Amino acid sequence: MASETQDMLARIAAAADLPALEAERVAALGKQGAITQLLKTLGAMTPEQRQVEGPRIHALREQVSDAIAARKAALEAAVLEKRLATETVDMTLPVSPGPQGSVHPVSQVMDELAEIFADLGFSVATGPEIEDDWHNFTALNIPETHPARAMHDTFYFPQKGELDPGFAEGAMRHLLRTHTSPVQIRTMQARQPPLYIIAPGRVYRSDSDATHTPMFHQIEGLVIDRGIHMGHLKWTLETFLKAFFERDDIVLRLRPSYFPFTEPSAEVDVGYSWEKGRRVVGGADGWMEVLGSGMVHPNVIRACGLDPDEWQGFAFGTGVDRLAMLKYGMDDLRAFFDGDLRWLRHYGFSAFDVPTLSGGVGG
Ligand code: PHE
Repeated sequence: MASETQDMLARIAAAADLPALEAERVAALGKQGAITQLLKTLGAMTPEQRQVEGPRIHALREQVSDAIAARKAALEAAVLEKRLATETVDMTLPVSPGPQGSVHPVSQVMDELAEIFADLGFSVATGPEIEDDWHNFTALNIPETHPARAMHDTFYFPQKGELDPGFAEGAMRHLLRTHTSPVQIRTMQARQPPLYIIAPGRVYRSDSDATHTPMFHQIEGLVIDRGIHMGHLKWTLETFLKAFFERDDIVLRLRPSYFPFTEPSAEVDVGYSWEKGRRVVGGADGWMEVLGSGMVHPNVIRACGLDPDEWQGFAFGTGVDRLAMLKYGMDDLRAFFDGDLRWLRHYGFSAFDVPTLSGGVGG
């Protein structure tokens, strides 16, 4: 018995892993286990025998279960040790330097505009950058033969036979939208008036120099309601520009102009003054053009399936990049799209500079 016990204890101490140890436990202490069998022999013994054998067998059982517990603890510690060794954290690595990057002035200005116009009851509408001819031109009262088409240096997609195997027979010609005005059409078609929307987004024209880039940003405004007149347009623009430039001395000048989709049309100039050799918006030392606008042409309202005798409205469009340049003092439009980190760090905004009317939209 003594050598059997020694063997058993040796096997327990040598169990290579937890399943092996469990097998030893069953072999010793399980229902059919060796120790369990020994305990059962006690019942058939005389009281004298039992007095001798009882404590011996119980001590044996205790010895074995202690050995199992000890081995189990050792094996579990080894498992944990192994896991810790593979899941190391390199404490010598530098900690995260915090958020990188900044909000681009164009995004910031778009957020500012959305905030200002939300306060006036306008919601934000969007449309696709790949437009069709009808939404970008025809529905805006610019028919195929209209000379205004030549004013927009349009990027057209190839037509049938011109490199475009996917071109469907009879499909409308596609282009990169040249302005945000097609969003006027899409909004009027999708929703019932009254409508008060702005539509910021990218537009494209084949043009490139210090003040023109092939892609730039516009924001469109559209109001369609009953009894709308030019006074509403002027008040809205004045209110918006005062809030945007955060000055009360904003003076507007509306000049008669021409856009096919508005009648009458007005180009809007804002007065500027000189401050430390720089032109700043406000005052009236001189004028700069900032917006195109007008009353929505009855043909446009009709093209969208509305009755121009019932619904009138105004629309305006302006360059977001240009507004950003005027407000934040950059002088080269091309730098907006160069991705130069030094420029972005200098002119960028913190992600936490959320524009609010109460906190100041200036960021
Ligand atoms: N879409 C015009 C442009 O790109 C701007 C504009 C919008 C003018 C709305 C009048 C009304 O030049």
